[in-house]
Amino acid sequence: MANGLFITLEGVEGSGKTSHAARLAERLRAQGRGVLLTHEPGGTRAGEAIRAIFLDPAVSLQVAAELLLVLADRAQHVEEKLKPALARGEIVISDRYADSTTAYQGYGRGFDLKLLGELNRLACSHVSPDLTILLDCDVGLGLARTRLRTNAGRRGPDRFEGADLDFHRRVRSGFLKLAESDPARFRLVNSERTAEQVFADINRLVDELIETRCR
Ligand code: TYD
Repeated sequence: MANGLFITLEGVEGSGKTSHAARLAERLRAQGRGVLLTHEPGGTRAGEAIRAIFLDPAVSLQVAAELLLVLADRAQHVEEKLKPALARGEIVISDRYADSTTAYQGYGRGFDLKLLGELNRLACSHVSPDLTILLDCDVGLGLARTRLRTNAGRRGPDRFEGADLDFHRRVRSGFLKLAESDPARFRLVNSERTAEQVFADINRLVDELIETRCR
């Protein structure tokens, strides 16, 4: 594996990306593989500062400002974290990446998809995932899972969790359109099932990818 592998996990709120990404990283590390587990927004020092503004429900943002913030985060993340890890031959697992921008700022907020695509390409600087696992679930179910989490942590909903149901439905259907338009990269996993069933599917998909790349 001279050039590493780049795997992204995508999906709506509460689809389980974050916990599955962590379990996947742990399993691959236990096999002795070099793994970078990272996330967007965030993943770098600049990114964590951007994330704080991006998610703060007290901050009001124009759609273009929201888009440019998350793309600034991505541009930094790509150069500072993703490219070096891929050059070291590691498996990079990112909890959200460019497809989240198309789904949330494009389909969700209504930003022009063509321009968004061009700006996203600039931020990604030719780093595109080898595999994108889309964890798909009903948005009501996902938001209910998120509420359990926020209540346990005694924090209120962030700027996105607090958005209306129609917004989240547009985001979900945006992700599904993206998956349909790029079947070579996307794999759809139904995350309305138990965590064990979902994780088994993720493992199978990742093992298949590793096997084909190492052949
Ligand atoms: P986070 O706390 O990481 O939640 P999640 O577990 O749902 O990933 O919050 C990230 C939020 O940022 C999430 O609501 C989706 C949003 N987001 C965008 O709107 N555009 C993007 O490009 C990215 C990466 C995230």
